[in-house]
Amino acid sequence: MKAIYLIKNGKAEIAFEKREIELKESGKDEIAIEAEAFGLNFADVLARLGLYKECPPLPAIIGYEAVGKVVKIGAQVKNIALGDRVIAFTRFGGYSQYIITKAVAAVKIDNDFPLGKALALATQYTTAYYAAFLAANIREGEKVLIHAAAGGVGTALIQLCKLKNCKIYGTAGSDEKIEYIKNQGVDFPINYRQKDFSTEISEKLDVVFDSIGGSTFKKGYKLLGSGGRIIPYGAATQLDAGNFFSKLKFALSFGIYHPVGFIMQSKAMIGVNMLRIADDKPEVLQYCMQNLVKLAQENKINPKVFKMYSIDELNEAHTALENRETIGKVGIKW
Ligand SMILES: NC(=O)c1ccc[n+]([C@@H]2O[C@H](COP(=O)([O-])OP(=O)(O)OC[C@H]3O[C@@H](n4cnc5c(N)ncnc54)[C@H](OP(=O)(O)O)[C@@H]3O)[C@@H](O)[C@H]2O)c1
Repeated sequence: MKAIYLIKNGKAEIAFEKREIELKESGKDEIAIEAEAFGLNFADVLARLGLYKECPPLPAIIGYEAVGKVVKIGAQVKNIALGDRVIAFTRFGGYSQYIITKAVAAVKIDNDFPLGKALALATQYTTAYYAAFLAANIREGEKVLIHAAAGGVGTALIQLCKLKNCKIYGTAGSDEKIEYIKNQGVDFPINYRQKDFSTEISEKLDVVFDSIGGSTFKKGYKLLGSGGRIIPYGAATQLDAGNFFSKLKFALSFGIYHPVGFIMQSKAMIGVNMLRIADDKPEVLQYCMQNLVKLAQENKINPKVFKMYSIDELNEAHTALENRETIGKVGIKW
C-alpha cells in the first residue's frame, strides 16, 4: 500500500512523493482503515508551504481525514466494528491508503453515503460545529458574520447558522463565490475585494467567525455588540506575510486586547484549534461528528463538494485550494 509523503516545502509539484508504506498494527484503542479517499484542508497548504507549526518533521504524511473500511480493531474498541465504513479524523497521516487512528476519532457511515460529503463532515464541518454550537453557542436569530464563507468551513458555518435562523453576513473574494453563498442562504454577501465589510455592516453583531486574521480580525471585533463573541480559528492572511518585519506587522494588525476591555464591553474571544480538541477532548470530537452524520442523514445539512480529484491530480487539487479557486470540499480518491 502507498502513501503520499510531504518531502519538501514549496510548490505542490516538488513537495510530494508517493511511497510504499509498512502496515503497522493498531493499538488497543485504535482502528486500521483501508482508505477510499482523503480530504484536503487549507492547513495542508500551509503545511506544504512550511507555514504550519504543528506539522511533523519532514518527510511526513499530512492529512486530517479519510473515509474507508475498517480492517483491524484494537481489543478495547467498542464504537466501531471490523468491516464498518467510517469517516475518520486522522491528525496527520491522512494521505495514505492504510491509516491507523483512534477509534474515538471515527464514526460509522452507510455504504452509500457520498464520499466527498463524508470527507467534508470530518474536519471542516466538525470545526464549524464546534465553533458554532460549543464555542460561540449561537442562539436563535442571532446576527453572525462568516468570513471565507464559500470555503469548506465557511459553507458548513452557513448551514449550521441557518439551523438557528441566524441573520448571516458573509464575505468571499469573487462574484462566483458571492452568488454561491447567496444561494447557500447568506442574507448579506459582501465581496471583500470590492467593499469593506466593516463599513458595509451597519449594525452590531452577536458572533464573528474569523479564519482570516490580521486587520480583518480587529475590524470584526469592533463590530461586536454587548454579549458578542468572536471566534478566531485561522489566519489565512499569513500566506501574504513575507519576511520577519511583515510577519511582525501582521501579528500587530490583530490589535492589542486586555481582559478589562472584555469586561467593560462584555465581549468574548474564543479560539478554536481542533487538533487540541482531538488530543485533549476526543469525546467532544466524537460528539460533533456523530451529530453531523445525523444532521446529514436527516438532510438538514448538505456539504458542497467542489471536486473529487484522482490521486494523480493531487498537485492540481493543492494548487487550486492555495489559489482560492475552490468552493466547498476538495477530496482525493485512491
Ligand atoms: N482551527 C482549526 O481547528 C481549523 C480547522 C479547519 C480549518 N481551519 C481554518 O479555516 C479556514 C478555512 O479552511 P478550509 O479548509 O475550509 O479552506 P477553504 O475555506 O475552503 O479555503 C480557504 C479560503 O480562504 C480564503 N482566503 C482568505 N485569505 C486568503 C489568503 N490570503 N490565501 C488563501 N486563501 C485565503 C479564500 O476564500 P476567498 O476567495 O473568499 O478569499 C479561500 O478559498 C482556514 O484558515 C483554515 O486554516 C481551522
